[in-house]
Amino acid sequence: MQSVRSVLKIENFERATTKSGQKVSFMSEFVLQQQNEAAAERQKPKEVIRRLVWKICIATLILMAIGSATRVMNAGLACPDWPLCYGELVPAKQMNLQVFLEWFHRLDAALIGVSAIALCGLSWWHRRLLPVWLPWASTFALFLIVFQGILGGLTVTELLRFDIVTAHLGTALLFFTTLLIIGTALTPYQGTGTAGKLPWVGLIASVFVYLQSLLGALVGSRWAVHQCFGGSQLCTVMYSHIAGLLPPTVVILAMVFICWRTPALHPALRRLANMAGGLLSLQILLGFATFRLHLQVEPLTVSHQTVGAALLGTLVVFTVLALRDSVSAESRVLSVE
Ligand code: HEM
Repeated sequence: MQSVRSVLKIENFERATTKSGQKVSFMSEFVLQQQNEAAAERQKPKEVIRRLVWKICIATLILMAIGSATRVMNAGLACPDWPLCYGELVPAKQMNLQVFLEWFHRLDAALIGVSAIALCGLSWWHRRLLPVWLPWASTFALFLIVFQGILGGLTVTELLRFDIVTAHLGTALLFFTTLLIIGTALTPYQGTGTAGKLPWVGLIASVFVYLQSLLGALVGSRWAVHQCFGGSQLCTVMYSHIAGLLPPTVVILAMVFICWRTPALHPALRRLANMAGGLLSLQILLGFATFRLHLQVEPLTVSHQTVGAALLGTLVVFTVLALRDSVSAESRVLSVE
């Protein structure tokens, strides 16, 4: 009888602990779920901004390609006034390929301008949930796009003055670079801590490609190819662009080589380095084809400008990821110490 009673007691005790155990695990699940939901809610603005930034990046790449097409098709002054075109939002009566290019270039630029204002506004509004640097970086991007708009206007009013055209492309590339830095810094990435000196190599390659692009813009805006072949003028500008190929080529090849020699490197960095190597080869091919054909094939010139921007973009993304890789390695060492 005694043993039956004790068995019943044990059973009751087990039932009670299981019930309270279930209650405890249910409570902790509930708390965890609440915490996850709160964390997801906090991540939302970051996610929205990251997506917006990548969209503006793509629109900027397209804008630069259209800008190049506008120049090579002699459409830079197809809309004689600014900011409207023939005094209208949509110049339906005057529309032809040249007017369309110049008009679409302005439309895309306006869309990017509005998106940059939204980016800046969102970054300041949600600043408590975002990295401290983000509102400042977005403000800088907005400043660049406002400056770009002023340069765009001056391009028309100053009748395509070469220094303004060059500064216009230089600022566009700087805006593109700023957005890529923001987008890459916000992208989830777990480094392997093996990047070593690669952030520096990437940075130097980016600076060289940026300078080479400015030289290219100078060649384009001064029509140096025509001037050189036609009257042996501005050949120095033309040939300095060809010679300017050397520094970025050496550094990009070194970057690809180092990546191949680093077995534990993050696959994303390896892929980006290979992509940079591929884009550089394509850019050299396009450059020589443009040169040999004396700018007669417009799509070649437009592709040369677009691939140049894509190469710069690839190097910038590589540099930021490599830097994050190094920073994560350093913080791991510090936490072990
Ligand atoms: C890293 C390599 C290079 C980069 C980043 C680069 C970049 C550029 C850029 C951004 C432009 C301005 C395009 C425009 O305003 O529409 C340009 C123009 C030009 N580039 Fe390059 N380039 C590179 C290599 C070369 C090479 C190897 C050649 C071979 C000759 C070349 C030939 C030209 C020519 C002829 C133009 C003038 C196009 C025009 O007048 O519309 N480029 N380049």
